[in-house]
Amino acid sequence: MTGIEQDELFKLLDIHGEDAFACASLLASPPGDGTRQALASLHARLGAFPSKSAAADGCTETDWIEALLRFAPEVHRHHLSLGIPPESSAAILADVGLNLRINRRVHRRFGLDTWAWLTLHMAGNIFRIGRLQFHLIRGDAGGSLAASDSWVVGVHIPEDGGLSPAVVDTSFSQAREFFDRYFPDKAVSAASCDSWMLDPYLAQKLPDSNIAAFARRFTLDRCSDAPSDAVYFTFRQRGMENLDRLPRETSLQRVVLERIDDGGVWQLGHGHLVFPPARSNHA
Ligand SMILES: CC(C)(COP(=O)(O)OP(=O)(O)OC[C@H]1O[C@@H](n2cnc3c(N)ncnc32)[C@H](O)[C@@H]1OP(=O)(O)O)[C@@H](O)C(=O)NCCC(=O)NCCS
Repeated sequence: MTGIEQDELFKLLDIHGEDAFACASLLASPPGDGTRQALASLHARLGAFPSKSAAADGCTETDWIEALLRFAPEVHRHHLSLGIPPESSAAILADVGLNLRINRRVHRRFGLDTWAWLTLHMAGNIFRIGRLQFHLIRGDAGGSLAASDSWVVGVHIPEDGGLSPAVVDTSFSQAREFFDRYFPDKAVSAASCDSWMLDPYLAQKLPDSNIAAFARRFTLDRCSDAPSDAVYFTFRQRGMENLDRLPRETSLQRVVLERIDDGGVWQLGHGHLVFPPARSNHA
């Protein structure tokens, strides 16, 4: 490990229990060729503000897990070198542990089928600020949202309890302060969100939900077919098999399954808003 004890690393990444054992065993021997290749890719991306995840390049899921673990101290140091507080760095890096736990729910084993998503974190330009995650990218990487000399934040919603309008408001206003303070030369003028949560069907069926209130903040630019996204995020199941065995306890679970029962296809909504948005009038 480079300059950080294993316990400290696992704390930074919020890895514990069985996942900590499995990760410790990956780190117990020197990295193999695949991990070294994945590490080289992470090195090349650090500080380059990539908008997309790293490509697999023949490395296995396990290579990527090991590379993420080995590289995390470096991105943490990078954050600190920008003046970003250690707790802000830890807040985003904790997504590694969360995704390992989600993987256990999805596949019932140690793994990280979302390893590509976590490669964004290792480039140093995505942050958890309050309830939401914000990915700082160049304007021209965010479609036609902003001029090429401007910057855009991609908004992501980690699983972590409810998404009330109040916590979203707070998160957006803290994000404005964060980017003004730590990236003063990067003028963020817009935010984008690509999510199953922006499928207009959801707001139509659950108009009073937090999800609908969140979606309404964005101007919807377009939708694209994403048949399994709503199933994955609602039930943590990959694929569309055995949907009849899934629970229909919450209104969201019912809406997701009933649309599929009726032959409908869930969409990925692509939306944007002026950053920071006006506060919602939920008070
Ligand atoms: C986004 C999220 C935080 C919203 O949670 P929330 O604030 O509780 O959502 P809402 O208040 O709008 O929920 C409306 C209804 O759906 C239910 N619901 C919300 N998210 C649910 C989920 N993931 N699984 C099952 N039911 C869910 C609520 O319990 C509520 O049901 P009820 O009407 O029967 O009481 C939550 O769905 C979540 O953690 N999702 C996973 C992360 C995700 O999807 N990120 C976006 C990736 S693109």
